[in-house]
Amino acid sequence: MKAEPICRVDDIPRNSACGFEINSNGRLENIVIVNWSDEMIAYRNSCPHTGVTLEWIPNRFFNGENTFLQCSTHGALFRPDDGFCVAGPCVGKSLEKLPITVIEKSVYLD
Ligand code: FES
Repeated sequence: MKAEPICRVDDIPRNSACGFEINSNGRLENIVIVNWSDEMIAYRNSCPHTGVTLEWIPNRFFNGENTFLQCSTHGALFRPDDGFCVAGPCVGKSLEKLPITVIEKSVYLD
């Protein structure tokens, strides 16, 4: 039996991302769900550089070209498909990927 879904696939347009606050064992955690080429991917919303949340303004996670997730604090760029940092102060590190399952267009954290 799965818990409540985090969101629906249709809530996040292709090649964009949304932030969510979830309750994980009594602790609130920020996560980001990315729809990248219609694949749903979840990361902990925490920059490997200092641990801050990534977005510029609510749900604005991508750089101007819409090619990378970008940290608003010092501009690190992360590949949307695997969270690997390709530029910035934490280059070579990665966002923490979270396991999710999509069932009937609803997204669940495993
Ligand atoms: S806090 Fe994200 S790049 Fe520095």
